[in-house]
Amino acid sequence: MDLEDKIRESYHCKKFSYSTQKYPFKNLVEEIFGVPLGDLHKWIGEYNVFNRDNDQNTILHKVFYSNFNNKLKEIYNDFINNQVKEYLKEDFYYQKIPTFRVGLPGNKFVGEFHKDSQYNHKGYEINFNLGLSNYLGKAALKVQKERYSNDYIYLECPYGEIFSFDHINCIHGSETNVTDITMVSFDFRIALKRFYYDSDAKSIGNQSSFNRGFYFSDEPVNASHKKNI
Ligand SMILES: [Fe+2]
Repeated sequence: MDLEDKIRESYHCKKFSYSTQKYPFKNLVEEIFGVPLGDLHKWIGEYNVFNRDNDQNTILHKVFYSNFNNKLKEIYNDFINNQVKEYLKEDFYYQKIPTFRVGLPGNKFVGEFHKDSQYNHKGYEINFNLGLSNYLGKAALKVQKERYSNDYIYLECPYGEIFSFDHINCIHGSETNVTDITMVSFDFRIALKRFYYDSDAKSIGNQSSFNRGFYFSDEPVNASHKKNI
């Protein structure tokens, strides 16, 4: 097994906590939408169950992304550079704009079960998920317990927690949210600098480049405590 696979595996289903006083993501996202996040479904009408092609296409996603630079970018960058940095023991690039997820009651927040190696993502990535509302029980991410396993677990993420997982080699997705509360989260990938390389790979969804300076930050975040594995 490659070293990068080994390192990513060591981050599978790993949970961390952070201060919501210092990083009040939920309050900031609620300010953008103007309603409690768990109630978002009450304001946007009916949607058919999402598939891979449209799970990023609601008006809620458009509102999140169009407000990102003004309302969230600064605190997100601070969070990555000062908090996420503590979770990693080596230099890394990070996803410039996190991916917004919405699990409406009766719907799914990921269109299909998959592993990201199927979507052109590279082995130098590790994925982090941050729950904002109802990232609990079966409304949470369902993921293979380990590579090749037949066992799946629900990775919960109450507000104030963040988890990492092996999105490259472990199959994951979401079941229908059977609660009457909207699930809201965002996630982002980091790219371990020592394994990173520029590639021609493009995202399946919007054909954008995964390279540093585009998808990933221009500059790496340098680890404060290096540990060589
Ligand atoms: Fe994925």
